[in-house]
Amino acid sequence: MSNRMNGQWLLASRPQGMVKESDFEYVRTPVREIQAGEFLIRNLYLAFEPAMRGWINPEESYVPPVQIGEVMRSATVGQVIESQHPDYAVGDYVSGTLGWQEYAINDGQPGMMGAVSKIPAGVPPILLLSVLGATGLTAYFGMLDIGKPQAGDVVVVSGAAGATGSVAGQIARIKGASKVVGIAGGQQKCDWLVNELGFDVAIDYKHEDVQQRLREECPAGINVFFDNVGGEILDSALLNMAQNGRIVLCGGISAYNEAELPAGPRNYMQLVIRRCTMQGFIVIDYLAQAGRAIADLSGWIASGELKHAEDIQHGIENTPKTFMRLFEGKNVGKQLLKIADAPIS
Ligand SMILES: NC(=O)c1ccc[n+]([C@@H]2O[C@H](COP(=O)([O-])OP(=O)(O)OC[C@H]3O[C@@H](n4cnc5c(N)ncnc54)[C@H](OP(=O)(O)O)[C@@H]3O)[C@@H](O)[C@H]2O)c1
Repeated sequence: MSNRMNGQWLLASRPQGMVKESDFEYVRTPVREIQAGEFLIRNLYLAFEPAMRGWINPEESYVPPVQIGEVMRSATVGQVIESQHPDYAVGDYVSGTLGWQEYAINDGQPGMMGAVSKIPAGVPPILLLSVLGATGLTAYFGMLDIGKPQAGDVVVVSGAAGATGSVAGQIARIKGASKVVGIAGGQQKCDWLVNELGFDVAIDYKHEDVQQRLREECPAGINVFFDNVGGEILDSALLNMAQNGRIVLCGGISAYNEAELPAGPRNYMQLVIRRCTMQGFIVIDYLAQAGRAIADLSGWIASGELKHAEDIQHGIENTPKTFMRLFEGKNVGKQLLKIADAPIS
């Protein structure tokens, strides 16, 4: 047994309503010695996404629920610090779904959320958790495969200052949308969208009447609505769609912490009247095509057309608090937590 101790956050109870710190328990357990065919990873960053709230409900979603007493599941990047595996060398950076813990032993075989992947030299590891990871791929495939923005389209994105929304809106602009409107909470986020990311307009849903503002900003209707939020915001967009508009159902964070699910969208008959489509998707269905997305996203970053933001908190002791920031609207861009410096330079 090595003398390393592994700080881990376990799921302690299933949240009722809003997730809270006491739904998780911090433990420290010894790290065992690795065996032939295994390697030991020091996790450096944990990534947070609203979908993780669904993973701790008792019902199966698109992945099985995390069980009480298990390490909380999350995407991670880390560095290999010991190896008895021919394909993983000490010092390699890897991304994976290794959860809320400091260390993980792996054998390179696919687990519940796939195998760990080596991060190519020269790519900043955190980008594999943000714009070149699940978030960027979600924005890319949701916007392009389902939203299909055409030159001249009016595109609206909710949750626009978050990890997915901020990238989705910029992709629409890159593809020639005539107007990109973001919906986000608070003036600061709205200013960031317009001044830094090149959105044409941002609507502060906490202080403005979204339905009225969408009518003002999109007088000929919305061609593509990329929705991360659901609820009232989706209902407002439904009333402002253009003929043959597309609604991309990416997520519905407004209801993720509701103990009782609200009734569905009131205005869904607008889909009939305006011949619109509304389609959901899950990014994992596109993983086989990830190479194409990463190539495009990397190219746009290199050319300066696509900006990305990471909101980095610090310290494993702050893990549940960092998760809660998503539901408190505190993050700008991708929510990450740094839990260690790279031990091997
Ligand atoms: N379909 C897929 O495969 C897939 C994959 C990844 C993510 N998603 C979905 O994409 C959405 C965004 O995920 P993300 O990882 O990029 O997170 P994120 O947008 O970076 O963070 C969540 C943001 O949601 C907003 N929010 C929180 N509670 C809200 C509420 N009650 N009403 C309105 N807005 C609220 C907050 O911004 P404000 O300050 O603006 O309120 C917060 O910053 C989520 O719905 C997620 O489930 C889907």
